[in-house]
Amino acid sequence: MKTSLAVIILAAGKGTRMKSAMPKVLHKAAGREMILHVLDAANTLKPNRIVVVVGFGAEQVKGVVLKDYPGAEFVFQAEQKGTGHAVQMCEKTLGNFSGNVCVLYGDVLMVNEPQCLQQLSAAHVKHKSDITMLTAEVDDPTGLGRIIRGDDGAFEKIVEEKDCTGLERNVHEVNPGTFTLDKKLLFTLLAQIKPTNAQKELYLTDIIALAKHQRLGVATAPQPTPRALVGVNTRAELSAVELYYQNVLRQRAMDHGATLLDPTTVYLSSDTVLEPDTIIHPHVVFGAGVKVESGAVILPFCHLEGAHIGRGASVGPFARIRPETTLAAGVRVGNFVEVKNSHVGAKSKMNHLAYVGDADIGAGVNIGAGTVIANYNGATGKKSRSVLADGASVGANNTLISPVKIGKNARTGGGALIRADVPDSVLAVNDHQMRVVKK
Ligand code: UD1
Ligand code: CA
Repeated sequence: MKTSLAVIILAAGKGTRMKSAMPKVLHKAAGREMILHVLDAANTLKPNRIVVVVGFGAEQVKGVVLKDYPGAEFVFQAEQKGTGHAVQMCEKTLGNFSGNVCVLYGDVLMVNEPQCLQQLSAAHVKHKSDITMLTAEVDDPTGLGRIIRGDDGAFEKIVEEKDCTGLERNVHEVNPGTFTLDKKLLFTLLAQIKPTNAQKELYLTDIIALAKHQRLGVATAPQPTPRALVGVNTRAELSAVELYYQNVLRQRAMDHGATLLDPTTVYLSSDTVLEPDTIIHPHVVFGAGVKVESGAVILPFCHLEGAHIGRGASVGPFARIRPETTLAAGVRVGNFVEVKNSHVGAKSKMNHLAYVGDADIGAGVNIGAGTVIANYNGATGKKSRSVLADGASVGANNTLISPVKIGKNARTGGGALIRADVPDSVLAVNDHQMRVVKK
């Protein structure tokens, strides 16, 4: 029978070095909160329980976690007395759970690398070890716990940088902070750790030296991994993680058949979907929740978020597509056009300088340059939707005061102010006459 597994994720710290009012694990990499990247990785193990230790900004962290992982449980660590203390706090919640525990740090994203945690589990079974942990060899180990091995190469202990001797500091093999061991053994060892170190904290990492003293088997699973993924403590490290993920996502998009003309200028979110034969021009930013269907082209300098771009559609240059927008096949959205919370039917066009907010637009509709759909009523503070039926054509520089409906194949004249519904197949104009006066 498969051994049960509980995952513990440590996320109670403030992240002092981030100099942020927001808990560190809520900072995003590739548009997704760090803690969710770690949960995504944990989830690949199909754990029976997921326990997140929260403290600083607990409610905020809980809120983000529960959105995607409603089954997660939380343990509150009021005072952050160290990673060992954080895990100790979980003993009661795990109650009579029996099986293995995998401990992860909420700020270490290497665990989201394909296969990483699977290899940890496999190594634990293969070596029949009491504790199995990942290790990483990095160019710059600054700030990380060093893996200290004996003369025979056998694993001895983990020493935090602040507690390192000069020689230990030169070690480049570090602790990414990922351990798997039996639950009972974990809490037995944790009961023995002491805060006798530079930071006067209870270090989770001290269980390794204790295990060695007690002649328990400690196995390591080395992971080739860049420094950026072994822990985010500062904004600079966050930017290194961001860059790393961007390169991974760009490569992945191209492998799946998207053309990125200048990949280094295209920013993707972890959930961006670019179907084969999409063309993404330089300087395009994809916020969370965008799907672009085959044959669509995104021209330079566009920002898209929460949008679905249909087959063969063309967006930009300089367009902004905001959440809850769907563009059907062959739609054209041109320069300086903003579309928000709107559905645009097949082959409709809005080629220049328009704001289209909260609108349901049929197929084959044309929206003239400079048109604004005034969806917000400043007096009531309410937003309303407008409808533009199939084949409608809105003249240049129109203002549509929502809610209005423009009928099928109806047209409006240039500069029209549309305050009431326009029936099907008519022309609506405003009678403001042009006057010519002497200079
Ligand atoms: C830790 C490890 C270090 C490792 C590095 C990897 C220890 C003692 N050190 O150091 O060996 O190389 O991570 O990035 O474990 N946390 C709590 N409660 C606490 C303290 C921390 O929940 O009381 C959480 C933090 O929110 C964070 C994680 O544990 O998500 C790691 O804590 P952090 O302070 O960043 O540890 P490092 O100094 O980076
Ligand atoms: Ca850290």
